[in-house]
Amino acid sequence: MMFNSKLWTGAMLWSAVAAQTAPGFPILASQALGIQFGTNIVQPAGEQIPRPDTASPPNITSAVWTSTGQGVLLMVDSDVPRNGTRVQLLHWLVSGVTLSEESNSSSLIIPSPGEAEYRQPSPPVGDSPHAYTFVLFSQPENFSVPAQFNDVLQSRVFFNTSAFVAAAGLGDAIAANYIQVQNLTGSATTTFPPPRDTGSPTSTPAASSTGVEFPGAAPAAVLGSGRVFWVGMGTALIAGVCAVAL
Ligand SMILES: *[C@@H]1O[C@H](CO)[C@@H](O)[C@H](O)[C@H]1NC(C)=O
Ligand SMILES: *[C@@H]1O[C@H](CO)[C@@H](O)[C@H](O)[C@H]1NC(C)=O
Ligand SMILES: *[C@@H]1O[C@H](CO)[C@@H](O)[C@H](O)[C@H]1NC(C)=O
Ligand SMILES: *[C@@H]1O[C@H](CO)[C@@H](O)[C@H](O)[C@H]1NC(C)=O
Ligand SMILES: *[C@@H]1O[C@H](CO)[C@@H](O)[C@H](O)[C@H]1NC(C)=O
Ligand SMILES: *[C@@H]1O[C@H](CO)[C@@H](O)[C@H](O)[C@H]1NC(C)=O
Repeated sequence: MMFNSKLWTGAMLWSAVAAQTAPGFPILASQALGIQFGTNIVQPAGEQIPRPDTASPPNITSAVWTSTGQGVLLMVDSDVPRNGTRVQLLHWLVSGVTLSEESNSSSLIIPSPGEAEYRQPSPPVGDSPHAYTFVLFSQPENFSVPAQFNDVLQSRVFFNTSAFVAAAGLGDAIAANYIQVQNLTGSATTTFPPPRDTGSPTSTPAASSTGVEFPGAAPAAVLGSGRVFWVGMGTALIAGVCAVAL
């Protein structure tokens, strides 16, 4: 939705009560990241954003912050068609995220390029909308990307968010949000697997103490995340699908 300070405030208030990751995404967070592409503020979570607006990485705010003072930011497409099913693709991975020095600002300072440079959403023509989840974690002391993920930082596709979060010791998410992007500018030249199963998560967020309320922010609800595994994929495999876009 277009920028306007009243709506922005409304978005911040509204955001405190909704689940923030894409349906079926393996990580949950109860707090919203503020995501802004140009004049477009993502609200509600999952808003469809025109692809041209996503050329540059968004500006991000968080009403909650981490006691370690630094965060790790991930952006993941969980709808990439590969081998007749839907897999994850890493669009952005940045550690060393901090809060703006400006008094009481909730704007994130996101180093560039980060461990995996921002890649614009590019869903294939004619596919169902892809969900792109942004999720912020508290950065552990001595954080580094576990060696087994070095390859996927390059290839991006077949990323496994749950496995990464566990291996890197990221713990519960601080806050998240997601957008959807679709490309309807032409006819599909291939057959796509069915949309991902986005049924209700099978676990509820667990209480956590990894986040602290940001000074000046509205009272923060308990932060948390749970890990749920996708179900129901792979029942309708379509042979020969090998889409190149993501
Ligand atoms: C982020 O904010 C800066 C400074 O206000 C602005 O120049 C830039 O265009 C913004 N980027 C996006 C993607 O909105
Ligand atoms: C996907 O299919 C390709 C080609 O058919 C194959 O080489 C690759 O191992 C498959 N990948 C997975 C993760 O199944
Ligand atoms: C971080 O690394 C330093 C130097 O290797 C080490 O002394 C310290 O114990 C590490 N801290 C944690 C929390 O692992
Ligand atoms: C992702 O990793 C978890 C273990 O951390 C595993 O249980 C799950 O099957 C993996 N998902 C995929 C799609 O490979
Ligand atoms: C849609 O996809 C085609 C082919 O990849 C690309 O040329 C075009 O720019 C895309 N358009 C939009 C609006 O995403
Ligand atoms: C920051 O927020 C706190 C709490 O709302 C307020 O007391 C303080 O005056 C603010 N500081 C500045 C510099 O705006």
